[in-house]
Amino acid sequence: MGRNNSLDLPSFIWLWKIAAWAMGFTLVSYSLLLLSGGKILSSRLNLSRSWGWVKLFHLVTGVTLIFLVLLLLAIGLVGTVGHYGDLGHSSHLWAGLLVVLLVIVSGWSATNIFQGKVWARRLHLFVNALLMIGLIFVSWTGWSVVQKYL
Ligand code: HEM
Ligand code: HEM
Repeated sequence: MGRNNSLDLPSFIWLWKIAAWAMGFTLVSYSLLLLSGGKILSSRLNLSRSWGWVKLFHLVTGVTLIFLVLLLLAIGLVGTVGHYGDLGHSSHLWAGLLVVLLVIVSGWSATNIFQGKVWARRLHLFVNALLMIGLIFVSWTGWSVVQKYL
């Protein structure tokens, strides 16, 4: 805040408000993907009847999740560079980059499921389990950063 070329975090409050909403929708999307993914899995294993629209819903929600995470990355980078002039102020940077990586691998594995690759299903499940841990980690570290300004 002391530097002339830096922008105050409070003056960026509208940006952090968008971030808070985006994170809320991210967690909602993840929960919906968990539910619809479980439904796809159980109908594939013949444990329940299959509904075609569940797959479409899962795909649309998945693309939404990827968009939201990339939006959060952009806000995090722009807000931090605007405020400090550089990056890397806490472990939140690594948490954020980890979540971005996981969500991209998840989407990439999904395109391979479509092409009938067997390994892609296992990768999709594994990466999405890690993504839950990643989302907890990014929320935790993000919230600790926010505490500094409250
Ligand atoms: C990142 C965005 C995501 C995209 C684009 C996506 C897309 C897909 C696609 C295309 C399928 C294959 C559907 C089919 O069999 O035709 C699938 C399956 C599945 N997804 Fe996702 N998904 C995403 C995220 C998630 C998340 C976050 C979870 C769990 C929390 C999840 C859990 C599942 C499960 C359990 C299956 C069934 C796998 C199986 O049948 O073995 N997905 N997903
Ligand atoms: C998928 C979710 C998220 C991603 C990908 C993400 C990404 C990032 C990145 C890359 C930075 C730059 C960090 C640095 O260089 O030190 C950042 C900064 C920041 N993020 Fe996030 N973030 C996410 C979620 C959150 C959440 C949930 C919160 C609040 C609870 C939050 C609050 C902040 C704050 C306050 C900063 C400024 C850093 C500082 O002042 O040290 N972020 N974010």
